Amino acid sequence: MAFPPSFLDELRSRLSLAAVIGRRVRLIKKGREHSGLCPFHNEKTPSFTVNEDKGFYHCFGCGAHGDLISFEMQTHHLSFPEAVERLAAEAGLEVPAQAPEERDRARHAASLHDAMEVAAAFFEHQLRSPGGREALDYLRRRGLDEQVIGRFRLGFSPDGRGALKGALKAASIPEDLAVEAGLLIAPEGGGETYDRFRGRVMFPITDRRGRIIAFGGRTLGDGQPKYLNSPDTPLFHKGSVLYGLAQAREPAAKAGSIIVCEGYMDVIALHRGGFAHSVAPLGTALTEQQIELLWRLAPEPIICLDGDAAGQRAAFKAAERALPLLKPGLSLSFATVPAPEDPDSLIRTGGTAAMQDVLGRAVSLSTVLWTQALGNHRTDTPERRAAFERDLMDMVGRIADPGVKEQYRRHFRSQLWEVFRAPRSAPPRGGKATLGGDARAGTRGAFGRRRSTDRGPDGRLPGAGLPPVPQPAWQTQERVLLLILIAHPSLLEEVAERLGNLHFSDSPLDNLRQEVLKHLDGWGSLDSEGVQRHLRSCGFSQILNCLLEANAHDQRAYLKPDAPVEAVRELWEHVFKLYTQKELVAELRQAEQQAGADLSDETFAYFNALWSSKRQGDDT
Ligand code: UTP
Ligand code: MN
Repeated sequence: MAFPPSFLDELRSRLSLAAVIGRRVRLIKKGREHSGLCPFHNEKTPSFTVNEDKGFYHCFGCGAHGDLISFEMQTHHLSFPEAVERLAAEAGLEVPAQAPEERDRARHAASLHDAMEVAAAFFEHQLRSPGGREALDYLRRRGLDEQVIGRFRLGFSPDGRGALKGALKAASIPEDLAVEAGLLIAPEGGGETYDRFRGRVMFPITDRRGRIIAFGGRTLGDGQPKYLNSPDTPLFHKGSVLYGLAQAREPAAKAGSIIVCEGYMDVIALHRGGFAHSVAPLGTALTEQQIELLWRLAPEPIICLDGDAAGQRAAFKAAERALPLLKPGLSLSFATVPAPEDPDSLIRTGGTAAMQDVLGRAVSLSTVLWTQALGNHRTDTPERRAAFERDLMDMVGRIADPGVKEQYRRHFRSQLWEVFRAPRSAPPRGGKATLGGDARAGTRGAFGRRRSTDRGPDGRLPGAGLPPVPQPAWQTQERVLLLILIAHPSLLEEVAERLGNLHFSDSPLDNLRQEVLKHLDGWGSLDSEGVQRHLRSCGFSQILNCLLEANAHDQRAYLKPDAPVEAVRELWEHVFKLYTQKELVAELRQAEQQAGADLSDETFAYFNALWSSKRQGDDT
């Protein structure tokens, strides 16, 4: 809806900007300006200013900037017309009557809404009638109860060409209107119109205010397509709608956070699992419009996509789309549900805690961009590293906001420096830097050193002080296979193929396994510390800490940087053999259950004997 500019000017001049903002922010008058603590970011000293004469506010801290109407939109999560209507009421101004053609359009939209409402009520009713029995059973089997079915107004479209058509007619909805609303299909060559949705579970799609604008319909079986959606209509533009937004709006504003998942059932499962601040696009990659819509509810929406290739592609696409739109304080973060799960199945098997865990491991947009670029490059020569850097900087170049752009440039520069700088040398003795590699030997503890940033908020190492939990043999084997490669990256190349054929039963470990394999080309040039920095920069800090933690109490010989490579290789082969001999593994598991003991120590005893005999051989 367009408002005449003169009306908007009148509105702006009737209301005092400082007074409207002053309801939210304690403002202090300083000369011609007011200043206070910025409501759009967290700060201790005021950098938010309001200029009444010029009619705008500006924050020197986060860059937030706007006028009366945009302030109202942002603070109350309103659309432009909604904010205008609200302010107009406050100013005692009448919103001007619309031009006749606009009035017609509004009236027409209202009647389209009526048609959608009739259809939704019909589908809801059908779900609860004998014909909807199978569909209701289906939803129940998928864990949905009455309450959630009601909340999302799920329904059922009977399997006939004229069921809905009859209901629309009975409600005096004109046939052409029903066609325009996408509810009936008019055959191209003429002839009888018929129901678009037949024999499907119906998911109403609403606008932000909860008015139904479209439907998605799911087959009960394996029919194709799995989901049939309404076509674009005057009410429904796929790219600007998020499924579940009406239900998520309040919880999201309250939580200051919003989750974006892939599908209808995921939204509903998340909602049931206690994550009511969840929405989904409609089977397509996130659009610019959807990203902007999300930012009106939360500064860093969590894009939570499936771990399969399609999900990861969609995540990267969203990351790229966001670049030109980034503003100070506004970004996206990314959580991955480990394949082959989706939020729906994950919550069903692992509950809220499993989902919370996935969200807790969300990584920043900058990490996603870095990881993606890294996946496209070998980084073992200066030229290849330069190509990697160029890709990163190309992405930075697409950021429009100068402040964010500069921060990204600095961030990637320093990360490049961190990850690819030469291995750290020994502390200079007598003020002189040492040349040559010898200085490194013996200066590092087992398995590199831990950085202070990995400590918890209380300064303790995560998990420190807890007794080590005995692990089943296979899990220890999985850990050891990875630990060895992280401690001795030069081994990776020769074992990569076999590592690639494994599938670890511990899913975070399996993610790490896949990540390790991605760097087959790049790791030749890195030492263990470099590799660890690398993994941390790609969001694997937590699992890496777990691995290190499990080994912190005994500094295994094979993790020392100076452990002889043949012995380390032999250990890897040995553990690999144990791990892949399925019968033996099964046997071990069984024995373990019987004895209640962790047999993996035998493996370590084996290696430690191996190594000490080797060393004795070397020494003599
Ligand atoms: P998925 O195939 O992941 O389905 O598609 P899902 O949401 O997990 O559904 P269930 O659990 O099998 O019932 C994700 C989203 O992609 C769109 C839908 O919006 C769906 O929710 N989609 C998928 C379609 O529009 N059409 C299709 O045929 C398939
Ligand atoms: Mn699913």
